Amino acid sequence: MNQKSTVKILLVEDDKVTFRAVQRSLEKQGFLCYGAGTLAEAVTILKHEALDLVLCDLMLPDGNGMELLEIVRMFLMDIPFVVITASEKKSLIRDAMNMGANDFLTKPFNLDNLPTVVERNLIREKINGAHGRPRKVSVLIKTIQALIAALEAKDSYTSGHSMRVARHARLIGNALKLSEDEQFTLELSALLHDIGKIGMPDSILNKTSSLEDMEYKTAKEHPVIGSNIVGKIDELQGVSAIIRHHHERFDGKGYPDGLSGQAIPLFARILAIVDAYESIVSKRSYRNPKTSGEALSELEKNAGTQFDPELTALFIKLLTNKGTNPEPQLKIESEMEKSS
Ligand SMILES: [Fe+2]
Repeated sequence: MNQKSTVKILLVEDDKVTFRAVQRSLEKQGFLCYGAGTLAEAVTILKHEALDLVLCDLMLPDGNGMELLEIVRMFLMDIPFVVITASEKKSLIRDAMNMGANDFLTKPFNLDNLPTVVERNLIREKINGAHGRPRKVSVLIKTIQALIAALEAKDSYTSGHSMRVARHARLIGNALKLSEDEQFTLELSALLHDIGKIGMPDSILNKTSSLEDMEYKTAKEHPVIGSNIVGKIDELQGVSAIIRHHHERFDGKGYPDGLSGQAIPLFARILAIVDAYESIVSKRSYRNPKTSGEALSELEKNAGTQFDPELTALFIKLLTNKGTNPEPQLKIESEMEKSS
């Protein structure tokens, strides 16, 4: 694999001798190695770093590797997870694989095998990412239209909101030169980001005054609800992860998982910016719309804390020079035209 220095591996191992030996071997291979001796340390790293692979001992002082695997998959991170175990017990290994572990190493293991195990999992991940299940576009489009219509029927203030968010997301996607497939994933995530609000009571959704503590807690569940709804559709697995994280903050103070910085999926960081912009310039049940200029300075004020600073600067530049940029067309619109 090229660019090994950018590959980040989390090594979770409490046995110091094994830890040091594996760390040395990984670093010799050119991988960037993050170390944790406990489950709690591993979770902290997971929330702050965009990792490419996890190598985890099954027995940890404050829990076990299966718990970490569960947390990784709960964050909807499909990164390769390799289990290290001192036990040859087949049932343990089988349980780990059933829960979504990708590979295993039994201790004591031959360090010469380590690079091969790491490489094969990184390569497998790359292949899966590049050749993901083809999406049946026409069925997807109809499903998405139906879901958006259901949400907009419930909340009149969001009418057209998701289409405008998608258009602005695509503007950033174009500037980042994303592939057409990535653009489509970003567009679908934008269209469906608030779909979890379908599960929220009308009394909260349309409230004109500020929310009580309990109501706010309920409102904050919409990314997880939305992610679970969309996650039921195989072709939308990637979209599901982005929806879950669209209210994370760059400084780690967001929800539901408190991810920070690059650990937040790129498309979720894009969505956070364009969603906030769109909300500020739109009329809501509880306030009047602001101008585009006011919205952009609000984004600027919160760059680095709430929003990814580089993406915010890019979005501000794009909207400031909007006159020279043609309005991007959405794939969903061209597909709708084709089918009409
Ligand atoms: Fe939202």
